[in-house]
Amino acid sequence: MAKKRLAVFASGTGSNYDAIVEAIQKETLDAEVVLLVSDKPAAKVVEKAKANQTPVFVFEPKKYAGKEAFEADIVAELKKAQAELVILAGYMRLIGSTLLEAYEGRIFNIHPSLLPSFPGLDAIGQAFDAGVKLTGVTIHYVDAGMDTGKIVAQEAVRIEDGMTKESLQQAIQEVEHRLYPDTIQQFIESGE
Ligand code: GRF
Repeated sequence: MAKKRLAVFASGTGSNYDAIVEAIQKETLDAEVVLLVSDKPAAKVVEKAKANQTPVFVFEPKKYAGKEAFEADIVAELKKAQAELVILAGYMRLIGSTLLEAYEGRIFNIHPSLLPSFPGLDAIGQAFDAGVKLTGVTIHYVDAGMDTGKIVAQEAVRIEDGMTKESLQQAIQEVEHRLYPDTIQQFIESGE
């Protein structure tokens, strides 16, 4: 079977992008990253992608009339790269109808909580401050809402006594880096 062509969208450090690239190298993920899309030219992940020779499409939202306009450019780049799946990994924007319609049922996001608890920004801090004993990681299909799409996979992370926000973040990221590549692989194997 041909390798699945992934476009990864990220605007931050890119540790999930790294985990996906590593899984591809280890051949536990039968895919290739054909495009990295970022709305933050200075993001660390952009640097990493360039170093890996992953093709990069960086755009500055403020240079466009609005979401429809920049998403039209993104869709054109995705088509050019023949991307089959869109993998959001720290892309901090809601996806609009232009992109949703072009890649219906083919856009995934990872969120650092057990949704529907703690959607939105700083989910790790929200869970920590709420004093819950259990949080985790969710991978879901993307729809027009904020972290509201159908859930594909979840894994719990216990908040142990004495944990700090930082150690909780580390525990969550460890799960993310395993769960995201595994879930993408399972989706690929499902043949959906
Ligand atoms: C991850 O925690 C992910 O769950 C959230 O954004 C963060 C991205 O981190 N959506 P990184 O850039 O992959 O390190």
